[in-house]
Amino acid sequence: MKFAALCALIACVPALVRAAGTGNPWTGATTFLIPEYVQEVQAAVGNITDSTLAAQAATVEQVPVFFWMDVAAKVPTLGQYLAAASAAGGTQVVQAVIYDLPDRDCAAESSAGEFTIADGGAALYEQYIDNIAAQVEANPNVRVVFVVEPDGLANLVTNLSVAKCANAASTYKELVSYAISKLQQDNVWLYLDAGHSGWLGWPANITPAAQMFAEVLQGAGTGATVRGLATDVSNYNLLRGAEDPAQSPNPNYDEELYINALAPLLQQNNFPSQFIVDQGRSGVSGIRTAEGDWCNVLGAGLGMRPTTDTGNDLIDSIVWVKPPGESDGTSNQTAPRYDTHCGQSDATQPAPEAGTWFQSYFETLVQKANPALS
Ligand code: BGC
Repeated sequence: MKFAALCALIACVPALVRAAGTGNPWTGATTFLIPEYVQEVQAAVGNITDSTLAAQAATVEQVPVFFWMDVAAKVPTLGQYLAAASAAGGTQVVQAVIYDLPDRDCAAESSAGEFTIADGGAALYEQYIDNIAAQVEANPNVRVVFVVEPDGLANLVTNLSVAKCANAASTYKELVSYAISKLQQDNVWLYLDAGHSGWLGWPANITPAAQMFAEVLQGAGTGATVRGLATDVSNYNLLRGAEDPAQSPNPNYDEELYINALAPLLQQNNFPSQFIVDQGRSGVSGIRTAEGDWCNVLGAGLGMRPTTDTGNDLIDSIVWVKPPGESDGTSNQTAPRYDTHCGQSDATQPAPEAGTWFQSYFETLVQKANPALS
C-alpha cells in the first residue's frame, strides 16, 4: 500500500508538520551576541571622552540584544549570524525580531516600513517569512528566538479608530498567522509582541488582547503553536516596582502585574502563557508625563540585564529587545516619518531616524543605568 493511501486510512501526521521548540530556550544555552550591535557600541565607546563613562559603556557590548529584521534585505544577515552561532559550537540562542508588516506602525509615523498593502506588500511579506524559515532550517542545531511584530497586533486592539490600522487589520492578522504557521521548526521559539502594561494592561484592553492573540494563533492552523508573548518591547516600564504616576489608575501598572493578569485570560483562550520582558531601557521610572509616551524618553537608563532568574515562572527571561542607543524616531519635524511623540517635552531632542544610532542618548542610558554598570 502506498504511503498516501495509508495516510488516508489512518489520518497520519503529514511529514511537514514539526513541533515548535519546547521549554525555556535560554536554559543550558549561550546567547549569541549580535555583531552589528557590538560594532555600534564599540564605535560609541570610541566617541566618549570621559574615561569612566567609556569603561562603563564598553561593558554593554557583552549584553545580548535582538537583531531587528526591519527590512527584508536583513534576512541574509540572519543567515550569517545563525551560521556563525552554529560554528561557535555548544548550544547557542540567536535572538531576532520579525518586523516588516505591510503598512507597519499603523498608529504612529516613526517606524513606517518598506511594504505597503496597496503595493503588494502582503505577498512580499510572505516571501520575507519564507526566507526566514529557510534560514532557520539551514541551521537546525541553533535555537532561534523570534519576537513577532512589535506593536502590530496591539494596534488592532486599541487603534482601529486610526484609518491606517483599520485598513490593515485583516492583513496584519493573516500575516502574523502565516508567520506562525511557517515557523514551527523545533529549533524556533516564537513570542508574539503584546505591547506593554500601560497599553494592553488597562482593564478595558486586556481581555480583547487575549482574544486577539488566540484568534491569530487559531488562524495559523491546527497544531501550530508559540512559546508565548513579549512585553515592553522598546518601552520603558519596570518589571516590578513602585507605581509610576503616569500609569495611574491602571491596576496593572508594571510588567509583572500585567503578565500575572493576562496569563489566566490567555489560558482560558488556549494560548500559551510564557513571557519575555524587555528591560533594556527600563532602569528609571517616573520620567514620563503620559504613559503613552514612547519616543527616546528623557532621563531613561539601562535596566535589568538579561537573565532567566526572573522571580516569576511565567517569565522565561528578561531580555533586551530594543538595542539601547538606537533611536525610537526622528525629532525633525520636516522628516516624512516625524511623529509628534518625538517632539514632546519628555522626548530627547534632537533625535535621529528610528533605528539609527543616537550617541548622546546612549551615553545618558549608560550614566543612568540601574543596576549601575561597573
Ligand atoms: C525601528 C527599526 C529598528 C528598531 C531597533 C525600530 O523603532 O523602526 O528600524 O531596527 O527600532 O532599533
